[in-house]
Amino acid sequence: MAILLFFIFTSILSISYSSPLPVNASGNISVRRQRTPEQCGTGNQVDDCWRCDPGWADNRQRLADCVIGFGRNAIGGKGGRTYVVTDPGDEDPANPAPGTLRYGLVQDEPLWIIFACNMTIRPQREFVVSSHKTVDGRGASVVVGEGGACFTVRNQSNVIIHGITIRGCRPAPKSAKTGHLSDGDGVSIFGARDVWVDHCTLEDCADGLVDVIAASTGVTVSNCLLTNHNKAMLLGHNDAYEDDRAMRVTVAFNRFGPGLVQRMPRCRFGVFHVVNNDYVNWGKYAIGGSASPTILSRGNRFCAGKEKEVTKRDGDPPKSEWQKWNWISDGDLMFNGAFFTASGRPGAEVKAPSFAKSASFVAPMTASAGALSCSKGSLC
Ligand SMILES: *[C@@H]1O[C@H](CO)[C@@H](O)[C@H](O)[C@H]1NC(C)=O
Ligand SMILES: *[C@@H]1O[C@H](CO)[C@@H](O)[C@H](O)[C@H]1NC(C)=O
Ligand SMILES: *[C@@H]1O[C@H](CO)[C@@H](O)[C@H](O)[C@H]1NC(C)=O
Ligand SMILES: *[C@@H]1O[C@H](CO)[C@@H](O)[C@H](O)[C@H]1NC(C)=O
Repeated sequence: MAILLFFIFTSILSISYSSPLPVNASGNISVRRQRTPEQCGTGNQVDDCWRCDPGWADNRQRLADCVIGFGRNAIGGKGGRTYVVTDPGDEDPANPAPGTLRYGLVQDEPLWIIFACNMTIRPQREFVVSSHKTVDGRGASVVVGEGGACFTVRNQSNVIIHGITIRGCRPAPKSAKTGHLSDGDGVSIFGARDVWVDHCTLEDCADGLVDVIAASTGVTVSNCLLTNHNKAMLLGHNDAYEDDRAMRVTVAFNRFGPGLVQRMPRCRFGVFHVVNNDYVNWGKYAIGGSASPTILSRGNRFCAGKEKEVTKRDGDPPKSEWQKWNWISDGDLMFNGAFFTASGRPGAEVKAPSFAKSASFVAPMTASAGALSCSKGSLC
């Protein structure tokens, strides 16, 4: 009987999808019955891993098993205790009160940090995230920024930031802990490894929305919604910082725009996989860089506005030089005159990530980019 139901169900599925979406046929039938194309089974490997479970709130740490790409080893606070943020305040950053987000972020032990209710947090100094932390905004609407500083991960590892709206981040005075003057990034990843930023909504910050610099590696930025900002995503410190050759960053399933100008992302030295993202438009360029980065753009959807060229070699290097940079466009969908200027050796050994899907699936795979609205007991 169960098998019969299963076949009836899968045939309904294949009729109701207009395109042959990759659906895993060995899932839990009673859970699969609740699927709709918008909610799960879209082929977005990160979401399909956890969003089809209405019991997500009782199994939050499952999320740590769902990261793909170069950040795939980021386990965040997996295995740690749950810490509940009950206090949106940040009265004394040098001496944070229990119940505040800052208090959880600076603890030495692994923590899975969640929020008791909706809240807006305006940090007086950067939130300095220590190793083995997950900031999990599911089940609450959490806004960080609003004229305060935002997140930084400096020389730490294993951090997950999920489901947070990060906007209006502004420069803040030096933090006692890092001695570092924050320049107003949404998320600044500095000398760090194994970091995953997923399902965040990012807009209008003073510097970058997500900047990954100073030889940070093992980073994935996925399922984020980035809007209303000039310099969206900087991957690489400066043209003299050769340690950035070690950088490996995956940018997947994000929606870029509307209202972005440039750096989606801007890359230096390392290896960057830009996969299955949706580009609504761009003011100056979408993907750019300098200092010979390797960029694989695969299965993205680019819809040009006035500016048609996706790519930009920053600093106007001579063609004889940038021709050697491996910038590859593979299976990207181009609309409204968008074009990608490729370069590099044909057959350069740039292995495509296994999770990449055809660009024709980008719309359903990015339909819920940004912080999700999740209620306990039902699908996110
Ligand atoms: C389907 O999901 C099951 C359970 O999550 C997994 O073991 C299996 O490898 C998946 N199969 C495919 C084809 O993805
Ligand atoms: C399928 O999922 C339901 C609801 O989460 C659960 O009660 C049931 O035990 C699961 N069945 C199997 C075989 O995993
Ligand atoms: C929390 O925020 C969500 C999304 O904005 C909203 O739908 C919900 O009503 C809020 N909950 C409370 C208790 O205010
Ligand atoms: C991070 O590491 C770099 C290089 O090892 C070092 O110069 C810097 O002081 C460190 N910063 C912090 C905040 O630990």
